[in-house]
Formats: sequence, C-alpha cells, structure tokens
Amino acid sequence: MSALPTLLAHPSLADLPLHERLVRALRTAILEGHLLLHSRLPASRALAEDLGVSRSTVELAYSRLEAEGYLQRRMGAGTFVALAAQPQPKRAGVAAAGLSLRGQRILDAGLCRDPVGLLETFGSGQGDPRVFPRDIWGSLMQRHWKRQAPRLMSYGDPQGLPELRAAIASYLVQSRGLACAPEQVLILTSSQQGIQLIAQLLIDAGDRVWLEEPGYLGARSAMLSAGAVVHPVPVDSEGIALAASHPAPRLIYTTPSHQYPLGMVMSLPRRMALLAEAERHNAWILEDDYDGEFQYSAHPLPALQGLDQQGRVIYVGTFSKSLFGSLRLAYLVLPSALVEPFAQARAAFDGHSNQLLQAVTADFIQEGHFAAYLRQVRPLYRSRRDLLWSELALHCPELTPLRADSGLQSAGWGIPLDIARQRLGVGITAIEWLLSGSRASGGLVVGLCRCW
Ligand SMILES: Cc1ncc(COP(=O)(O)O)c(C=O)c1O
Repeated sequence: MSALPTLLAHPSLADLPLHERLVRALRTAILEGHLLLHSRLPASRALAEDLGVSRSTVELAYSRLEAEGYLQRRMGAGTFVALAAQPQPKRAGVAAAGLSLRGQRILDAGLCRDPVGLLETFGSGQGDPRVFPRDIWGSLMQRHWKRQAPRLMSYGDPQGLPELRAAIASYLVQSRGLACAPEQVLILTSSQQGIQLIAQLLIDAGDRVWLEEPGYLGARSAMLSAGAVVHPVPVDSEGIALAASHPAPRLIYTTPSHQYPLGMVMSLPRRMALLAEAERHNAWILEDDYDGEFQYSAHPLPALQGLDQQGRVIYVGTFSKSLFGSLRLAYLVLPSALVEPFAQARAAFDGHSNQLLQAVTADFIQEGHFAAYLRQVRPLYRSRRDLLWSELALHCPELTPLRADSGLQSAGWGIPLDIARQRLGVGITAIEWLLSGSRASGGLVVGLCRCW
C-alpha cells in the first residue's frame, strides 16, 4: 500500500475524478505485484483517512474493482486482492505514451512475431513463395475483378464470404476430419486475430488458461492481454502432459496436429484424455491447427474437433502457411452457440476480411488448385526437412533433432542459438518458453524454407 500515494499522484491521472484515480492506482498496484494475491486491503475508512479522501471515494473504487475481478470483499472479513500479478517485461516509454491500462497490458504481453530481419531467413515456418502457382492465382484475381468487382468492392458479411465458408467447411470435413457446417465458419485475418477474439470474448481477468510449455508466444500474448492467468503445462512425446495437480482452467490452448514448437503429434489416447479433462473442468479447448496441411506420414490423425461430442473445441486454422503469409486469411470453426456473438464482435472490431481475396481463395479451393498445390509441395518440404536434418547432423553434431513428421519447421536441443547460427550461416530462432517469455535454452527452431 505504500506505493499507492505515488501511483495516485501520477501525472497521467491528473485530470481524472478522485475515485477513478484510486481505481487505476489500485489496479496498477495489483497488476505490477505491489499488492499480492489474497493480501488484505485496509478498511475503507482507514484508507480514506490515510489518503485524505472521503470514505465514499474509497467505497466506490473498491466496488468497481470487485466488479472487475481485482478485489473480493467478504462480509465481516475485509477486502482482499483476487488477482495474481503476471510476470511482464517492462517496455520503455509506454507510460509516457498515455496508454490505458488495457493498452499497456497488451504491450506488456509481448510480441508474437519475429522481427522482420529474422523473418528474412529460415527463422519462421513459412512456405516457399517461389513454388506458389502465381499464374493461377493471378488469373482468378482477374476473373473475379472482371465479373463481380462491384459486389467485391462493397462491404461484406462479417462472418465471411459464403462461398469461402462453404469451401473451407468441405475441405475441413474431407481432409482434416472435422465435423462442421459452413454456418460454423468465421473468416478472419489471421489465427492471431482468432486467438485474440477468443481471449476477449471467453476470458475474464483472473481466469486461468493452460498453455503448452514450450509453446506459442502469440497465444500467451493474447491471453495475457485479456487479463488471463497463464498456467504452463509441460509437453511430452504424446503432447500436452495432463496431471491432476494442474489447477482448473477456463480454457486450454493446444496444437495437437504438430506441437508448436517441438513438433510431436498428440496421441489418440491423449486426445481422449484431454477432452475428458476439459469436460471435468467445464473448460473450452482452443485447437490451433496452424500447419496441419503439411503432414508427411501416410495416415495423419484427424483434428481434435472431430472427436468432440460436446461442442467445447474451438478450431483455428490459417492460410498464412498453407498459401502465403501476407494473404491475411484465417478462420475459426465455432460451436453453434458462439457463432453469432463472434461474428458481431468481429464486426465491432474491424468489419470483415478483404472480399476479393476471399472470393479468389474460395475458387482456389473449389477448383482443386489448393489440393494440387499441397500434393506438389508436401514431398518437396519433406525432402527439405530431410536435407535440413542431415546438414544439422554434419554442422551441429551435439544437436538432438526432434524428428517430427509434419510442418514447416523442425526443432532440436543441445546447442546455443548463436553457435548454431554461426555454423549454419542462416538465421534461426530459439525455442520459446512461455513462463519466463525467455528464448535461452539450447533449443532451436529452423524453418524449412527461406523467407524472402
Ligand atoms: C502455433 C502458431 N499458431 C498460429 C500462427 C499464426 O498464424 P497467423 O499468421 O494466421 O496469425 C503461427 C505462426 O507462426 C504459429 O506458429
């Protein structure tokens, strides 16, 4: 509480009413860990005297923070902190920018993309633009522009172009084993937008979310920015490692087809156990199938969503990897009850995705070009992966590769990143640890294709 007068006197709060200044100062104190979870706050009368404000000002602030989930007031016992601080890296200059607490939380939650300099190498899992059928894509663009420019130049349905939703649903049912109808598909700009929407619509501040450890920093950043308490769950050779000791979650984020970044496929028994665990906790499952199109084994396991009998799996897929990164098209497959709220939220945030590109992507799938392209690049990427492994064995013999049979990147353990970079002469990234946000672990991830 000793930090409170300083927080209250912060110049960025100067124009606000007194109770609002107190709300913000207390929120900051809780989020930054000055006030710890379960610690008891002074009675409103005592705090009012200490700060030289009226008791009703303190009462108002306490009630607001209780409604927001930061505090809990227990009759006869007092007022207690109800939210744990999250470890967050500090970023210089944020306070000076005059951001809201939410804005600051989003920045503090961290980036989910590598800097552009690193993307220009083998750092990230992306396809090779040189083998993409640009002529076919170009002629589809022209065709749509000639035939239906006025329609495609108008505002569109926030849920997405019906043709594309139908094409995606039929592809997912046939190729990825989902059980879904076009009405359940919501077209988005990116998986990241999908994960953010899920965090904003399904997570309250203080809700617990399980994330695979190591895992995808984009998911961590979306959940933290919604105020979630992140609980990292280790992975083993069968995927996310369940244990009775993990505290009950509201949502579980997982990458069952190709764990990011280690690459294992979640086994069928583990999938069944995960669904049962989610049922036990009445939790949502967010299945991130970011590169499920690139499975190299003869019989890849179908998506987790197809096994779900209860409508608790939300599936997110993207064209960022299966077509190209700058396309900015992805999708959610939602349980029916969530479709309308999510479509409305999408409309509220940014309307919808580019109509022309949706129409072109729909035809690219419906006319068989997508399937043909995937058939062409799967063996190509598999042979690049084999070449990568043999080069790694030659230049970095101390590295133990994790031999995944899918995806656009491979991971390994046992060598510091800078040494591997020097020996291979290419940019690569390190395995990302969610708990600490750290990348230093002797683990690394190498993309199969150079990004231009
Ligand atoms: C696990 C995972 N999910 C999602 C994405 C992002 O896809 P999008 O470009 O659609 O946001 C990535 C990108 O690398 C990823 O690694």
